[in-house]
Amino acid sequence: MRLLDIPAIQSMIKHIGLKTFYLQLINQLESDFSQWKKFNKSPRHATYYDHGVIELMPCSDDELYSFKFVNGHPDNTKSGKLCVAAMGLLADVESGYTLMISEMTILTAIRTAAVSALGAKYLARPNSSRLSIIGTGAQAEFQAMALLAVLPITDIYIYDTDTLAMDKFVKNLSSEFKSITVCDSVDQAIDNTDIIVTATAAKKSVCLFTEQQIKPGTHIHAMGGDCPGKTELSQALLKKSKLIVEFTEQSLIEGEIQQLGAEHIYAELWQIINNQLPGRVDNNEITIFDSVGFALEDLSTLKLVYRLAQDYNFGEQVYLTPELDNPKDLYSLLK
Ligand SMILES: NC(=O)c1ccc[n+]([C@@H]2O[C@H](COP(=O)([O-])OP(=O)(O)OC[C@H]3O[C@@H](n4cnc5c(N)ncnc54)[C@H](O)[C@@H]3O)[C@@H](O)[C@H]2O)c1
Repeated sequence: MRLLDIPAIQSMIKHIGLKTFYLQLINQLESDFSQWKKFNKSPRHATYYDHGVIELMPCSDDELYSFKFVNGHPDNTKSGKLCVAAMGLLADVESGYTLMISEMTILTAIRTAAVSALGAKYLARPNSSRLSIIGTGAQAEFQAMALLAVLPITDIYIYDTDTLAMDKFVKNLSSEFKSITVCDSVDQAIDNTDIIVTATAAKKSVCLFTEQQIKPGTHIHAMGGDCPGKTELSQALLKKSKLIVEFTEQSLIEGEIQQLGAEHIYAELWQIINNQLPGRVDNNEITIFDSVGFALEDLSTLKLVYRLAQDYNFGEQVYLTPELDNPKDLYSLLK
């Protein structure tokens, strides 16, 4: 069984290159979403606490089974811990044996951003060059770099209630974009933009901007609202927009759409990818991808990582499943 820890994932991304990794993952996601019906899907198993959530996210097809263990603790950063940290497991369906255990904190940020890019490919205007990010915590740079892989993003506008988080964003990405503007307010950050990513963390329902502040043609990737009672957008804006979700059953519990109901959902992403319903149809629509993170995205990511780990020999082999001449003689391991 292969174990991929953080240094192994760092080496893999360095070897492949972040942009190439994003493009490969976006392809994998697109291919898996296009075969939506072949996967065993269920809403994630979430255990809610007053200060956060711990979730198990399983998904499988006839060959591979995966699950991710992940948390969401908005106040963690105050004590020097990540808001979102994760681990994932990939198993062979034929035998039920584990193939790989991997860190998934970095991989969750990458996969979440790749999903954002996949959504933007179908829902944002193709010439989108201005990106606004509200909330520049751990996920923010990943979002910007994934969107850059699919769209001609040149100018970024950021706003966070924590100025140090914005300084960190500028320091990490100033060489990647023509300009990064640090804004004093959400209003300034979204004033003249093509795409807005909302990536704030707070265990409450907030309204980051009103529908009057959003110009026709804007695409909004709403990813910070991903738990019951944790939303970022107003009902009026949701009603005015074309709203796309990943998996309705889960999104109704966790997404922005928890504020309204299924009748306000335009489509699930796979339906747009498969041309069952058109994505953006003109330059004036406001589109919202109400993304909460779905287990299939983790399966796609672990599949890609497992393939790359085998091809380039990343990670190490660890002995976690007994190997026995006689599989009925498990006791022999203790003799
Ligand atoms: N949809 C998904 O698939 C997915 C995946 C990962 C994370 N998330 C969610 O995305 C959000 C961000 O995750 P993270 O790991 O970057 O968290 P983080 O704690 O590292 O960063 C969140 C940032 O939001 C800022 N913030 C909080 N309230 C704000 C407000 N009203 N206006 C502006 N800034 C504000 C904070 O100062 C912080 O810098 C979390 O809510 C997380 O649960 C969603």
